[in-house]
Amino acid sequence: MKFGYFDDANREYVITQPDTPLPWINYLGCQAYFGIISNTAGGYSFYRDARLRRVSRYRYNNVPYDLGGRYIYLRDDDSGEFWSPSWQPTRPDLEDYTCRHGLGYTIIGSRYSGIEAHSTYFVPLDEDLEIWRLAVTNRRSQPASLSVYSSIEFCLWDANDDATNFQRNFSIGEVEIEDGAIYHKTEYRERRNHFAYFACSRKTEGFDTQREAFVGPYRGWEKPLAVERGKLSNSVAHGWAPIGAHHVELQLGPEETQEVIFLLGYHENPQEQKFDPPASQTVNKKTVKPVIAKYLNFADVDAAFEKLRQYWDGLLAVCQVETPDVHTNRMVNIWNAYQCMATFNMSRSASFYESGIGRGLGFRDSNQDLLGFVQMVPARARERILDLAATQLPNGGAYHQYQPLTKRGNNDVGGNFNDDPHWLIVGVAAYLKETGDWSILDEPVPYDNAPGSEQPLYEHLQRSFQYTLDRLGPHGLPLIGRADWNDCLNLNCFSDTPGQSFQTTTNKDGKVAESVFIAALFVLAGRELAEIARRRGRTDEAQRYLAEVARMEDTVREQGWDGEWFLRAYDDFGRKVGSKECAEGKIFIETQGFCVLAGIGLDDGRAQAAMESVAKHLATGHGIILQQPAYSRYYLELGEISSYPPGYKENAGIFCHNNPWVMIAETQVGNGDRAYDYYARINPSAREPISELHRCEPYVYAQMIAGRDAPTHGEAKNSWLTGTAAWNYYAVTQWILGIRPTFEGLEIRPVVPKGWRGFKATRLFRGVTYIIAVTREGEGNQVALKVDGEPWEGTVVPAPVEGQRAVTVEVTLK
Ligand code: GLC
Ligand code: GLC
Repeated sequence: MKFGYFDDANREYVITQPDTPLPWINYLGCQAYFGIISNTAGGYSFYRDARLRRVSRYRYNNVPYDLGGRYIYLRDDDSGEFWSPSWQPTRPDLEDYTCRHGLGYTIIGSRYSGIEAHSTYFVPLDEDLEIWRLAVTNRRSQPASLSVYSSIEFCLWDANDDATNFQRNFSIGEVEIEDGAIYHKTEYRERRNHFAYFACSRKTEGFDTQREAFVGPYRGWEKPLAVERGKLSNSVAHGWAPIGAHHVELQLGPEETQEVIFLLGYHENPQEQKFDPPASQTVNKKTVKPVIAKYLNFADVDAAFEKLRQYWDGLLAVCQVETPDVHTNRMVNIWNAYQCMATFNMSRSASFYESGIGRGLGFRDSNQDLLGFVQMVPARARERILDLAATQLPNGGAYHQYQPLTKRGNNDVGGNFNDDPHWLIVGVAAYLKETGDWSILDEPVPYDNAPGSEQPLYEHLQRSFQYTLDRLGPHGLPLIGRADWNDCLNLNCFSDTPGQSFQTTTNKDGKVAESVFIAALFVLAGRELAEIARRRGRTDEAQRYLAEVARMEDTVREQGWDGEWFLRAYDDFGRKVGSKECAEGKIFIETQGFCVLAGIGLDDGRAQAAMESVAKHLATGHGIILQQPAYSRYYLELGEISSYPPGYKENAGIFCHNNPWVMIAETQVGNGDRAYDYYARINPSAREPISELHRCEPYVYAQMIAGRDAPTHGEAKNSWLTGTAAWNYYAVTQWILGIRPTFEGLEIRPVVPKGWRGFKATRLFRGVTYIIAVTREGEGNQVALKVDGEPWEGTVVPAPVEGQRAVTVEVTLK
C-alpha cells in the first residue's frame, strides 16, 4: 500500500493522505537556519544547533504524535467553523489533501468546505528565516468571509532547558510587538544578543503572544479558544509560554485567491548595539526590519524560491544517471543526494527520531557523511574536515561528538572510541580524490581547539594512524576501547546498573578486548594515507605505512578468520565474538563487508567465502541483518548490543548503514548481480509499495529495518539521519555504477548486473563534465574505454587539456 507517489519531474514526493503511518518529514534550510517539517506541518526550527538555539517548540513522543508545528487555522466567519488546512492539529475531514515534499521546501494543500488553501514553507538561501506562504482560494459560488490565524510556539533557546527547567522558564519569557510583528526576546535582557521574530504581510486584526490566552484554559492546539471565538486578545507574554499568533481577515469572491506571507526568523545584533535607544531594554530592530520588509514582499519571495530551485538544480547536476532501474535513477538523481545534504548538515542531531538535544555532530558520523556529500559543495566539506580535525586530541584520538554551535568537543561523551580517528583519514582521502585540493593537508589545525597547538592537517592524519599502533591487544589486533563503528558492542563496559550509559561507562581497563573491524578500517585508512604520503614525496613514510598495513592484514588472516567468515572481535576474556564457537552472535556483517572492502582476502578466497556466508546466514528479503543468531538475553560482557530485543537495532536488525559495505565487497569480488540485488532490497523507493509495512518515508533511507528475529520484520525506523545515506550513495555511484574519483582522475569501472544492457551518466568532476555511456557486450566486468572517441588504456580517465570542459567516455563491458 502507498500513501502517495513520486513526482520525479518536479523532484517531489507527493503524499495524498495525511495520516501516514508515521510523520513523513522534510528539511527546510541547508546552511545555518534549519527546520524539520512533517506532512501535516509539524516540526520545529533552529539556528545552527538544534539544542542550543532552538527557535520553536516541538513535543517528542507526544500523544497524538507530531505535535508542535507551523500551524495555520482557517475560520469561516459566517458559520464559525474552523479547521487546519494542513490537517493537524484539528484533523478535519479534508475534501482533498496533498503534501509535496520537495528539495528544501514543502507545500501542503487541501480543500475544506469549498475553501482551498496551499501553504508553501521554505528557507531562502543565505537567510536565517523561513517563509510560510499561504494562498487561499474560494471555490464556492458565494463570497466567503474568512479569518486566517497563524501560530508558533517559541522555544526558550536551549531545548534541553526548555523542556526541563520550568521553575525558571515560567518566569523569563518576554516579547515585544511592533507594527504587527512579534519579537521573541527571552534572555535578551542578559547574555543573549539574538531574538526571533514572527511577522505577517497583511494588516492584522489582532495578535496573541501568551499561549494560554490563545488556546484557552485546559485546551490544546486542536481547539484554540481564540480561534473558536474569532478574536485574539492582544495578549503580551510575561513568563509562561510565549507564542506568536496573528489574525488576518480575508473577503474572497467566488474563484478569488488571496495570499498572505508569514515570516519566522532568527536575528543577531552586535553585542554593543542590542538596544534602541541604547539605554533602554527595547530590542534594536534597525538591521532586522529591512530583512522583514524584503520577505514580506511577494516578488522577493518568488525570487528566493526560484533561487532555491536553481541551487538544487546545480547541486544535483553534479551526478545524474540513466539506468534501466527507475528506483536507482530516482534515488541517485534526487533523493539519496538530497538526504546526503541533510545528514551532512545535521549529523545525527535533529529528526523525528533524534530530539536535537542528545547528540551534536559525531566525529565518525560526520567523516563518513563526507563520502556522499563532498561532490556537492566541496568548500563546505573542507570546512567540516578542518572543524572535525580541530577537535582531535593530541594523542590522535578524538572526541566522539562536538557541538556545532561552539565547534568544541563534547566532554560529556568524551573519546576512546578507537575507530574514530581513522574516519578522518577516510574523509580527507575522499575530499582529495574529489577535488585534487592538496593544500588542505598544509592547513594548520589545532588539537582539542587549543590555541598554539596547530599542526598541518597531514600530521593529524599521521597521529590518527599512530593511535591504533599505540593500542594493539594480545592478538596484535586493535584494542576496541569504548566501541568501534558498532556503538553497541561495548566490550569494556560490564554495566549492571540500570540506566547507565553503555557508551561512556568503562569498567575494564581496556587492554584485552580487540576489534577486527578496526583492523580492517586501519588497513583501508592506512592504504589511503600511504598513497597520500607517496604523492607528497614522503616515500619512506609511505613505505612504513604499507608495512604496517601488510602486518595488520596478516594478523587479520591469522587471528581474525573463523574458517568461513571473518571474526568480529575478542572480548575482555580473550574469547571470540562472531565465531562458530559462540552460542549466539556467530557471524557479524561488519567485518565481512569491511575486510573485503579494504581488500583483505581478495587474493586467497577468503573474500569470496565471506560473501557466501553473508548470503547464506545474513541476507533477508528486506536487507542484510547485522548478526546471527540474535542475542536472546543480556550479556554483561558484550554491552548494549544484547540489550535490544532480537531483531532490533544492532541486535540483528537490518542496520542499513553497513549493507553498502557488502555491496561494495560484492563488486570487489566481481558479483554485480548480488551487489545490485542487495542495493535494491533496501532502496526506499523500491520499498514504496510496502509502505504499510516499511512505515517510514519511501524517499529516504532509514537507519534500521527490523530483522527477521523481530515480530515486525521489514518495519523501518529512524529515517533520515543515518550513515546509510552517504554509504549507499557511495556504493551505488562509485562501485556499482563504478564512477569513482581517484587521486589520479575519474575512474570508470562499473560492476553492474548481467542483465543490464548499459546505462548513461554525467558526472561533473574537478570542473569538467564527463558524459559517460556504458554498453554491455558480454556478461563480465571487463572494461574497455574510449575517451573522446579514442581507445584508452586502463580505467582512469585523465583530466582533459586546459579549457576543455566536457569529455565523452564510451565504456564497453565484456
Ligand atoms: C549510529 C551511530 C553511529 C554508529 C552506528 C552503529 O548510527 O550514529 O556512529 O556507527 O549507530 O552503532
Ligand atoms: C544507541 C543506538 C546506536 C547509537 C548509540 C549512540 O546505542 O542504538 O545506534 O549509535 O546509541 O548514541
